[in-house]
Order: sequence, then C-alpha cells, then structure tokens
Amino acid sequence: MPLLEVEGFGTVDADAHARLVNAIRATGADIGHRCGGQAKCTTCRVTFAEGEPDEMTRAEHEKLAQTDALGDYRLACQIRVDRPMTVSPLMLAEEMGWDDPGPEPAAEVEPEAEWLPREALEGEEEEED
Ligand code: FES
Repeated sequence: MPLLEVEGFGTVDADAHARLVNAIRATGADIGHRCGGQAKCTTCRVTFAEGEPDEMTRAEHEKLAQTDALGDYRLACQIRVDRPMTVSPLMLAEEMGWDDPGPEPAAEVEPEAEWLPREALEGEEEEED
C-alpha cells in the first residue's frame, strides 16, 4: 500500500487508489473540503514535497486554470494515492476558523474522473485561445 506522509500530522498506509483528501483526513488533519470533493471550492488544496502525479482530472485542471492557481497547488479531492506521497494541506478547518471542514467526500473521485497528462490539458487550453 502506498505510504502517505502528511507534513505535521504523520504517515498512513493509504489504500491503493484511495482519494487523497480522505487519506489525509485519516491522519487526523482537518483539511478543508467545503464542496464535498467536487473540484469547486479549492479548500482541499495541497502542495507536494514528493510524489506529485503528472496527470490531472479535467475538473481539477479547469478549476486551477480558472482561479489562476495552476502550478501553485493541487486539489486533494481530485487525486488518488497510487504512489508514495508527501503533502502539506494548506487550508485546515481549525486555522481557517471553520466549525467543520465540509461535507464528507465520497470514496471515489467526483465528478466522474478522467485523468489526462497535464500537457494534454494545457494543449487543449491553447487550442481554445
Ligand atoms: S475542491 Fe472542494 S473539496 Fe476539493
């Protein structure tokens, strides 16, 4: 099982292909997920020290491009733990003053995920310009 290290919280053996946002929660980190894991709120944002996947869901790419955040962070609700990873959650409920981090994200990535290499997604964007 891939090992996930969440900086400041510790390490867990994540189920292969567990949704990253849920695996982070399993370490006790109260990472935000205010839209319930739908690639809409960006409160599940993380930075990677290791193991960042090159592929992205179309939904993650669209959201990050729309908010001018491509290259700044990734959305943990749109990533599966399919390799060893070290991440830092950037928005914790307690630090943000939220009563709760958000509705429970489903076990599977939503909206229905299609993972594409970043270059392919960026190429599509250029064609649209
Ligand atoms: S974008 Fe809202 S939980 Fe990931």
